[in-house]
Amino acid sequence: MAKVISFSNHKGGVGKTTSTVSVGVALAKKLGKKVLLLDLDPQANLSQSLRVPPTEYTTYGALIGRYGLVPVNIEGSLFVVPSTLDLSGAEVELSSETGREFILRELIDPISSNYDFILIDTPPSLGLLTINAFAASDSVFIPLQAEYLALQGLAKLTEIIARIQKRLNKKLQLGGVFITQYDHRKLLNREVAETIEAHLGSKVLKTRIRDNVALAEAPSVHRDIFDYNPASNGAKDYFNLAKEILALYSKS
Ligand SMILES: Nc1ncnc2c1ncn2[C@@H]1O[C@H](COP(=O)(O)OP(=O)(O)OP(=O)(O)O)[C@@H](O)[C@H]1O
Ligand SMILES: [Mg+2]
Repeated sequence: MAKVISFSNHKGGVGKTTSTVSVGVALAKKLGKKVLLLDLDPQANLSQSLRVPPTEYTTYGALIGRYGLVPVNIEGSLFVVPSTLDLSGAEVELSSETGREFILRELIDPISSNYDFILIDTPPSLGLLTINAFAASDSVFIPLQAEYLALQGLAKLTEIIARIQKRLNKKLQLGGVFITQYDHRKLLNREVAETIEAHLGSKVLKTRIRDNVALAEAPSVHRDIFDYNPASNGAKDYFNLAKEILALYSKS
């Protein structure tokens, strides 16, 4: 059975998509794992940031029951089910459905054993799509920018994770939080990173993802960071993050 991981934070622009793609590619291309990326964000940034072969099978069509999850191969052991803007209608369309929180879990079940990891990119909200992701996941990893109020949003998110664990998915865990877009020259970044580590202790991953322009450039040419600039800090940091996440699973 695959380990299912959501990257989530209802705050926008913190690095959810960049992290889902980059950790996924590192696990597949550098660490020999079979990986499925699920784009659960109507913005479809993940789908646009890679060269996805044309496919009519999207996460939207699967969620509304037209078909199952039909992954397409990007390269090697990396697969994706892309999203499209019509996914933005899914929350309303599914809102009166019985068992609406478990639709994604039911879709993942029959294909789970085909992969080592299934990584889910979630939208910047805590609506039904994110709840479906959490109900289907073993762990949630939270990217955080080391800026003012970073911890305030986090309290809300960990509360939701705890509630979903209690009511919908007993196995769900907070896998960890990690700091993104980190610039050690900024005093605020350093101070907030220390506060985050002091508050959350062992839940904070050791790898800090540095602010790195190559990470912002790579998606615009539909390439992953390891292909676009393998020597960049972005590639180094995400390789380390992927190894750290993998090690968490090797222990359990
Ligand atoms: N470490 C980094 N250094 C520099 N730029 C980054 C870094 N991480 C992400 N970015 C850029 O910051 C922007 C936001 O990142 P990303 O799209 O991954 O965030 P997100 O949390 O998925 O956003 P949304 O909430 O809209 O889904 C993107 O333009 C991305 O390329
Ligand atoms: Mg995103």
